[in-house]
Amino acid sequence: MEIHEALYTTRMMRRLRPDPIPLDTQARILDAAVRAPNGGNTQRWHFLVVDEPDLKRELAQLFRQGRAVEYEKFATGAGPMAAAAPGANLTQHAETMRRMKGSGDYLADHFEEVPLLLFVFAIDDLGGANIFPAIWSILLAARAEGVGGVMTMVLRNFEDRVNELLGVPVAEGWTMSAMLALGYPRGKWGVAANRRPVQEVSSRNRWGTAFGIDVPAPLWPHDYLAPAVASAG
Ligand SMILES: Cc1cc2nc3c(=O)[nH]c(=O)nc-3n(C[C@H](O)[C@H](O)[C@H](O)COP(=O)(O)O)c2cc1C
Repeated sequence: MEIHEALYTTRMMRRLRPDPIPLDTQARILDAAVRAPNGGNTQRWHFLVVDEPDLKRELAQLFRQGRAVEYEKFATGAGPMAAAAPGANLTQHAETMRRMKGSGDYLADHFEEVPLLLFVFAIDDLGGANIFPAIWSILLAARAEGVGGVMTMVLRNFEDRVNELLGVPVAEGWTMSAMLALGYPRGKWGVAANRRPVQEVSSRNRWGTAFGIDVPAPLWPHDYLAPAVASAG
């Protein structure tokens, strides 16, 4: 797959088919992920996949409880995952949140059917900085295989219980950074278009000074590297 297609169309997919992800596909995804940058190349990461039905059932209960906790926070509109960015269009933001709740409800209701749960652990992930490149590589590599998914941190609400269920050696310092629900999507891949455009979220030299070029619509697939944009880089 061409890199821009992967970058533009790797969206969070929450409606997943139960079909299993073959082991060789899983291997390709993780083999790509371990190439990700990480501080000092210490590779203090561990990827734990769960496909055992009984374990998934237990995790599903926790996921649904955790989601209820998250939605209580959402209801106040506060917190890092619900508060709109300064200057954002609040109507658009509310619509995004509404849609996300719809697909999130689907995931919660069908959690047991997700073919593969991938827990990512790290020792001191530096606020996520040390592990999110690998997580994004997982999602991109999965995209190249036609596998979709979503990263969530919901189960961190029950970290101790999850660690116990999965036998995590917490004494060594391992903590859960995120969990990815992975599977073949029911829906179609599309460009992640619900984003504020470059000129609204970028500046040049001083905060708030125009970036220098407007990007009114996603540049891929039609205009990628159109001369006007290419010369601005
Ligand atoms: C740190 C982080 C935590 C996230 N947590 C959740 C989550 O708990 N549940 C969920 O459904 N999506 C979660 N997401 C996915 C975002 O909701 C998603 O990337 C965003 O809404 C944009 O949607 P799109 O990628 O499909 O365009 C998370 C993403 C990040 C980066």
